[in-house]
Amino acid sequence: MSDQIKSVRGMPAILPDEIKKWQYVEAAAKSVLNAYSYNEIRTPIVERSELFQRTIGENTDIVAKEMYTFFDRNDQSLSLRPEATAGIIRSGIDQGFFYNQTQKLWSIGPMYRYERPQKGRYRQFHQINMEAFGFQGPDIDLEMILLTRRIWKALNLSPLKLELNSLGSPESRKEYKRQLQNYFNDHQKELDEDSLRRLDRNPLRILDSKNPDLQTLIESAPKMIDFLDQESNEHFEGLLKMLQDHAIEYKLNKRLVRGLDYYTRTVFEWTTDQLGAQATVCGGGRYDELVAELGGQATPAIGCAIGLERLIELVELSGHNEQNNPPKIYIVAVGLEAEGQGFLIAEELRDAYPNLSIEMNLNGGSFKQQFKRADKAGSDIALILGDDEIKEHTVGVKPMRSEGSQETVDRKELLSIISQFL
Ligand code: HAM
Repeated sequence: MSDQIKSVRGMPAILPDEIKKWQYVEAAAKSVLNAYSYNEIRTPIVERSELFQRTIGENTDIVAKEMYTFFDRNDQSLSLRPEATAGIIRSGIDQGFFYNQTQKLWSIGPMYRYERPQKGRYRQFHQINMEAFGFQGPDIDLEMILLTRRIWKALNLSPLKLELNSLGSPESRKEYKRQLQNYFNDHQKELDEDSLRRLDRNPLRILDSKNPDLQTLIESAPKMIDFLDQESNEHFEGLLKMLQDHAIEYKLNKRLVRGLDYYTRTVFEWTTDQLGAQATVCGGGRYDELVAELGGQATPAIGCAIGLERLIELVELSGHNEQNNPPKIYIVAVGLEAEGQGFLIAEELRDAYPNLSIEMNLNGGSFKQQFKRADKAGSDIALILGDDEIKEHTVGVKPMRSEGSQETVDRKELLSIISQFL
């Protein structure tokens, strides 16, 4: 036998046993997105590498260390998308649909990052993404927080924690960056290797360090929130006031900087203490400069992404894993004629009851074998066809989950009677 081909590390398949959970969670999220008037958009998984370099930022871990980048046959550098926002903006500019318009968009799909795989962290993972374009004020920030909170509610999750910060305008951030560099330069000897590497180009990311030895130093570092320009300050104050008016609990996290360079003003994360180290279920913020930076008309924007693997894990832990399995009918048919009738009945049932799950027995077998399969398939009822039923133009109906006994019904009546058994 030839060697078996292994899966790519950190890229698991989602198996039939798990997929019901995914469908349940996706359906809940889609229904909430619909309730907030968001429209779906699907963008390519592959983009020019330059798109991610210019948006997420060359000095971020995502672009510098985690992208799946390759050259196509035309020597063009392409990358698997590590996130969805950049591609959505690129498509929007291409198609002119931000031009003097507002847009609320959502998207779902796989993302790719070459990270060290562990529970809750994969190399292929899935996000539900939502982006709102053309809204200037903090009211859209509030609405996006309400929307995500409603998704947690729809899934019956125990409350997640909302953490917030403001990163100000690019100008105010420049000044802050300088102050931060001065501060960490003065304490160079205390920094670890990772932070030294970040000091020059991306000092804000030092604030994200999990190294316990650095925590006191980081705690005393200058805070972005103290460097906000007036407009950003008013925007943030406006948002905090609205959150209070809606009784939404939040924690001001002055160290929250996020791992992508495009953010301005509000940034936020929803976190949980139920998932160990991979605590962030959803993250996002405003990116008011990005559409213009990519060549579009200046368009204020905000968005966030939910990590689906993490959300599904939370749903599982909550025990409210309501899966909507449609009733299932299994057709047991022994003998050539019975098989032929079985196929006809299966098609008639699919026409009449599109929401039922109908499984016709395949691969032949005795009654005993076929009942075993019906049981294993989790059927609610089995329809039985053998020589006797064919001769008498009847069908046997056997409940598979309750104690009820098998009944014989007239073949002609089957379609109208079947709903009584479900
Ligand atoms: P992000 O914080 O990089 O933001 O990712 C958002 C969420 O995706 C994370 O909070 C986490 O739940 C999930 N996630 C990220 N990496 C992994 C991984 N390796 N394995 C499993 N889950 C993961 C963004 O991607 C931004 N594009 C969000 C955004 C949209 N900002 C504005 N619009």
